[in-house]
Amino acid sequence: MSPDDTLVLASVAQAAADSPLARFRAVRERTETLAAPLSPEDQAAQSMPDASPTKWHRGHTTWFFETFLLAPFQPGYRPYDPAFGYLFNSYYEAMGPRQPRPQRGLLTRPSCVEVGAYRRHVDAAMARLLSGPLSPEMLERLELGLAHEEQHQELLVMDIQHLFAQSPLQPAYRERPDVPRPPARGLGYVGFEGGLATIGADEGGFAFDNERPRHRVFLEPFRLADRLTTNAEWLGFMEDGGYERPEFWLSDGWAMVQDEAWDAPLYWRREEDGAWTEFGLAGRRPLDLAAPVVHVSFYEAAAFAVWSGARLPTEAEWEVAVRSDARLRQMSGETWQWTASAYAPYPGFRPGAGALGEYNGKFMVNQMVLRGGAAATPPGHARASYRNFFHPGQRWMFAGVRLARDGA
Ligand code: AVJ
Ligand code: FE
Repeated sequence: MSPDDTLVLASVAQAAADSPLARFRAVRERTETLAAPLSPEDQAAQSMPDASPTKWHRGHTTWFFETFLLAPFQPGYRPYDPAFGYLFNSYYEAMGPRQPRPQRGLLTRPSCVEVGAYRRHVDAAMARLLSGPLSPEMLERLELGLAHEEQHQELLVMDIQHLFAQSPLQPAYRERPDVPRPPARGLGYVGFEGGLATIGADEGGFAFDNERPRHRVFLEPFRLADRLTTNAEWLGFMEDGGYERPEFWLSDGWAMVQDEAWDAPLYWRREEDGAWTEFGLAGRRPLDLAAPVVHVSFYEAAAFAVWSGARLPTEAEWEVAVRSDARLRQMSGETWQWTASAYAPYPGFRPGAGALGEYNGKFMVNQMVLRGGAAATPPGHARASYRNFFHPGQRWMFAGVRLARDGA
């Protein structure tokens, strides 16, 4: 084989790797790989109303392709099981009634084996669909379905961590522990002049509707911390009475401190010898002081920022900074970062027509934007314009803190 042949084969392999069907298979397989270490019992339980069973994630992501691609675009396609619409519809009012979210853990049936068969059935039908001609609308829905399944891959991991944290056995989801970090460098700040800037996703490439339209913003001069807040810094906040002094807290946050008896990040525990441990995907481990703090709510992040004499960055500051400065570290791949921005529509945002218009737009009140991306975020899933969002009191997500200050 000549070097030229090798090149041709490599580019054919590359094109095949990037084909819609190859990408579909890769994303679908990754979900099954994430679920593989979990027993049927693990996959059926629901630890709280916000979390979903693994088995439900596997079914819901399948229902999404069946409902939004196969049903409308595969002539003669009949749903695998007409009952599954009720079981696996998450929140789409336009698609009819559904199992109440807090009761997803009561779905002992279909079994994991049956959910696996449902996945294979839909995968086979999708393979046929993706082997034929694909209209721009079909390709757009495919991109959405893949990004959707990737969102559920991270949710699956978050939800399993929360479930396992409730167990007296404190089981590990994976054996490989996080590598202990070298001591963190002193916190530095990178300055930005501000002024007129543009944020949001441009028209090339996939982005969720909530990242558009791209639009101008005006920023005052600001500084952004050059790394994430560490566990050691969070301990400093706690030792200074962070969870006991209302002066640091928003009123709604202080109410939650009391109602939920918050005195540390979600998975921290003080052991009998006084040492702190943290429950993570590798089980309960000694707290790594140099690692970024994670599993804090927006309220805790905001209180920490007040205690620090700083503030949280706005989402526009975060996006402008990540696009323009290489000195910032840990902008993605460690933990999502709370911003001071309410999750609201960008100027000119209009949700699309029909059920898929419900995907993001109807949640644009009473939540806060997070930026960046976590270690559990699928590779390549997030981007500079990506807007994650959660309620300000939630903390089972991989959410941490990057500080900001006024003035360059
Ligand atoms: C963006 C993570 C808040 O959990 O509902 C899943 C992701 N959207 N299915 C959520 C999502 C539709 C969404 N979050
Ligand atoms: Fe979903």
